[in-house]
Amino acid sequence: MGSDMARRGRGPGRCLRVMILVLVLGARAAPLPLVLNTWAFRGAAETAWRTLQSGGSELDAVETGCGQCEIEQCDGSVGFGGSPDEHGETTLDAMIMDGNTMEVGSVADLRHVKNAIGVARKVMQHTKHTLLVGESASLFAVSMGFPYEDLTTQNSLSIYLKWLNQSCQPNYWKNVIPDPSKSCGPYKRAKELNNRKEWSISQRKMNIHNHDTIGMIVIGETGNVAAGTSTNGATHKIQGRVGDSPIAGAGAYADSTVGGAAATGDGDIMMRFLPSYQAVEYMRMGIDPTIACQKVISRIQKYASEFFGAVICANTTGSYGAACNKIPGFRQFHFMVYSPLLSQPSEQVVDCI
Ligand SMILES: *[C@@H]1O[C@H](CO)[C@@H](O)[C@H](O)[C@H]1NC(C)=O
Ligand SMILES: *[C@@H]1O[C@H](CO)[C@@H](O)[C@H](O)[C@H]1NC(C)=O
Repeated sequence: MGSDMARRGRGPGRCLRVMILVLVLGARAAPLPLVLNTWAFRGAAETAWRTLQSGGSELDAVETGCGQCEIEQCDGSVGFGGSPDEHGETTLDAMIMDGNTMEVGSVADLRHVKNAIGVARKVMQHTKHTLLVGESASLFAVSMGFPYEDLTTQNSLSIYLKWLNQSCQPNYWKNVIPDPSKSCGPYKRAKELNNRKEWSISQRKMNIHNHDTIGMIVIGETGNVAAGTSTNGATHKIQGRVGDSPIAGAGAYADSTVGGAAATGDGDIMMRFLPSYQAVEYMRMGIDPTIACQKVISRIQKYASEFFGAVICANTTGSYGAACNKIPGFRQFHFMVYSPLLSQPSEQVVDCI
């Protein structure tokens, strides 16, 4: 028997077993229900999972999961007290999408309210609109019972003061005077436009460390898909800036006949390509979720090789994947998975392409 095993160990049987293992790992499939979210935001995955286990819907799971990140202030890039804008204020963007009805609720440039994804859910449940913005969204939130609070913290204040002290570097202006790469504003329109590259190295570095989003896909036992996002946007953004996160098809997308996707990274660039919508459309054509994510990234690469971005994708039978654009300082992307064979959220990694 020993020699039998030894023979099998060396023979084609072992080859086959290794191949099957590689195929299984490569395919990344899980039994349903499935929770998938961007970055190593473990608390979010755990909370979404607990919501499902206690009988909550897929939408409830997305709302509580992303909401957990808002409470934990995940990476300083979700929730209050992070990513102060040019005036030192934290503003929030969030969306939630129901893949059964294709309804979306979202808020952008939300001020003075912490639970952005909760407000987004209320936009979906209590209005016929899709997206509310700015102080008006705050008034809506208050009418729905959310507290009106200051989102500034000691941390966001010190990020802001440090930035002021370093001549407002980096910032998001171009073609203005005084030279935005050297001075603070107020800026005026420059007479001549130059073709200087939009993304300097320092901006890119800043993005990798401070500019993330929670994006989440939840697929229920029967294949219902919900997706959502929450973020406090880009640090030092110009007031009024809204990124990809609250835009359906950009930040996230869900379709219960296909699957779901969510994106994170340089929202200003990512949103031009509707990456989440595009990933779902690729999966609709029968393309594997990992490949769908990769195709989305490579499409953006044709125009913006230096962008910082990643996408997660899952289909209704529980196959999932992720992809990211390889740039200096960002070679691998981490994301969380929770499914019935796991006793806790599993952190997974993909190599960027
Ligand atoms: C401002 O920057 C200078 C150096 O550039 C430093 O000496 C000073 O401590 C900074 N002040 C604050 C408040 O960060
Ligand atoms: C999900 O992706 C897997 C792996 O590519 C594939 O085998 C499966 O058929 C897909 N499911 C759907 C519903 O498209």
